[in-house]
Amino acid sequence: MSTSELIAMARHNLAHDAKGTMELAPDVVRIPAANYTDPDRFEQEKERIFKRVPLLLAASCELPEPGDYKAMEPVGVPVFMTRDAEGNVRAFLNSCSHRGAQILEGTGRSRRFICPYHGWSFDQKGALVGIASGHEFGAIDKSCHGLTPLPVAERSGLIWVILDADSTLDIDAFLSGYDSLLGHFGFTTWNLFESRTVAGPNWKVAYDGYLDLYHLPVLHKDTIGGGRSAQANYYAWGPHQRVISPNRFAHLAELPESEWPMADLMTGVWTIFPHISIASFMGGGRSVMLSQLLPGPTVGESTTTQYYLMENEPSDADRAAATEQFKLLEYVVQDEDYKTGLKLQTALAAKARSHVLFGRNESGGQNFHGWVDRILAADDTELSALFIGDQMTRGQATG
Ligand code: FES
Ligand SMILES: [Fe+2]
Repeated sequence: MSTSELIAMARHNLAHDAKGTMELAPDVVRIPAANYTDPDRFEQEKERIFKRVPLLLAASCELPEPGDYKAMEPVGVPVFMTRDAEGNVRAFLNSCSHRGAQILEGTGRSRRFICPYHGWSFDQKGALVGIASGHEFGAIDKSCHGLTPLPVAERSGLIWVILDADSTLDIDAFLSGYDSLLGHFGFTTWNLFESRTVAGPNWKVAYDGYLDLYHLPVLHKDTIGGGRSAQANYYAWGPHQRVISPNRFAHLAELPESEWPMADLMTGVWTIFPHISIASFMGGGRSVMLSQLLPGPTVGESTTTQYYLMENEPSDADRAAATEQFKLLEYVVQDEDYKTGLKLQTALAAKARSHVLFGRNESGGQNFHGWVDRILAADDTELSALFIGDQMTRGQATG
């Protein structure tokens, strides 16, 4: 987990800042407007992207102790994650082996997971350990009736799950080394301060916004974007992209590189394909907002859960500052980004345009849509190969 890549990126941005430039994509790219509105494509995206690639479903600090669990229904698939007695995170389809009821809801802590329907119980490793009124139920082989495990990986204080129990995709290949860079945040010891869920437009309309600094000084001029640069450099590891304003490092120019603070080196927006963005804030002390987007019930809907994670346990004063920061971010996302995105969605659904444009200064969006298309086109046997050997590409438009 060397810091040299982080220092190289900071240097690269300092050089651009000195010239007032940014890396530009070769061309303006046109994306069909129907990509955001076509219900058939939307179904394909859920099936071929969200049900095949690893999804970041939780931060490790949401499951600090054995028996902690978190249940969710990403793209309609009921899953839960838990930490077993040895400290390993496990993920299962949240469906009882008796008649399929969902066993857990929300978050909590339990040594055994008891189905609310007829009371069958499962241990933290998903094994069926108790059949209510077993002598009357009849004989079955308990060892064949555990919960269905899902592929899971905990890396750098973050938890990825694949919703397909039969997937053979290598999660580390998919992460392309990006998780090791994210390790510099030190999330393994951070705390969850608060979370909330907001409704938004089509998941790609919403996600485009997290990859876009172009809109910052315009749409967010009265909140977080006033006077901010519209320039951005993009760094890609496989489908995952870091987005940085070139002028965020100017204050480091006078310091020797060995003294560049880690928090400064980690600035910018870290996106994790296909649905996560991590951005740094200082409200209440060093913090990030981790935004987790999921497609909603129809093509024009998504939900975003915002998690405010804090490096240190906050004091009372910190809590007040963190609450204020988190509130501002709710406003920025709900009343600026998603309000604009929902109206944009209505315009595209009304077929107001055939295409939308991503400029040479918006290579993050170009790159993202390229990955969406490539994954949609890849069959199961081709999927892993998309991620293998994908090196970090600095300041390039296409991955
Ligand atoms: S469905 Fe779970 S015990 Fe019956
Ligand atoms: Fe925004």
